[in-house]
Amino acid sequence: MRINKYLSGCGLDSRRKCEKLVTDGRVRVNGKTVTDLATDIKESDSVEVDGKYVTLSERKVYIMLNKPKGCVCTASDDKGRKTVLDFVKIKERIFPVGRLDYDTEGLLLLTNDGELANIITHPKNMVKKVYQVRVEGEVTDAELKKLRSGVEHNGIKYAPARVAVLEKDDKHTKLEITVTEGKNHEIKNMIESLGKQVVFLKRTEIAGIRLGGLSRGEWRFLNSRESEHLKSLK
Ligand code: URA
Repeated sequence: MRINKYLSGCGLDSRRKCEKLVTDGRVRVNGKTVTDLATDIKESDSVEVDGKYVTLSERKVYIMLNKPKGCVCTASDDKGRKTVLDFVKIKERIFPVGRLDYDTEGLLLLTNDGELANIITHPKNMVKKVYQVRVEGEVTDAELKKLRSGVEHNGIKYAPARVAVLEKDDKHTKLEITVTEGKNHEIKNMIESLGKQVVFLKRTEIAGIRLGGLSRGEWRFLNSRESEHLKSLK
């Protein structure tokens, strides 16, 4: 099995992210560091990542967390900040599917199914993600039109988004924005392209799976309907 597929099957991350572990020199096979992505792993090989042995996980798990603000979506943080894995203590080694910013809250999927994570996060698959966004000030009709036809920020183009106005008062506008690209800081950058700031950001839906009534910091396994639906994207 190719090394990235093997590492992903151990529940480390999506296959693409696992390639970086290899090229960064963090992986040893039978005691030797390997950086070649063409390396194949045999059943008898022993594989270490950052000095810890890893093995293929049998049972695939699919979890949703209502990520609170103030935690990062990485397995460990060099600044010692809380991570999303501090909220979900299970024996399988899992990783977050994509990222939410430190100050963003809401729906985060976690799994040890690297193939599924790849499908959900790869821009070519255009998986829908829905966000509730509170924006400082008024978002005018002309600005809504811009978001709906695609904006550019710092040289990066953002595809047309579906945008609905949920609430308005004299200080803020609350929008629901649906995107399919999954670029870094996508929503904040789209709003900044209008010269405005996001004051609150929450993801409520990924690929039709909804956060529902889960409280902040709470998690649950996806039910069979939800996990079957995700697997049908494969
Ligand atoms: N867009 C952002 O700007 N931040 C997130 O955390 C998610 C989407």
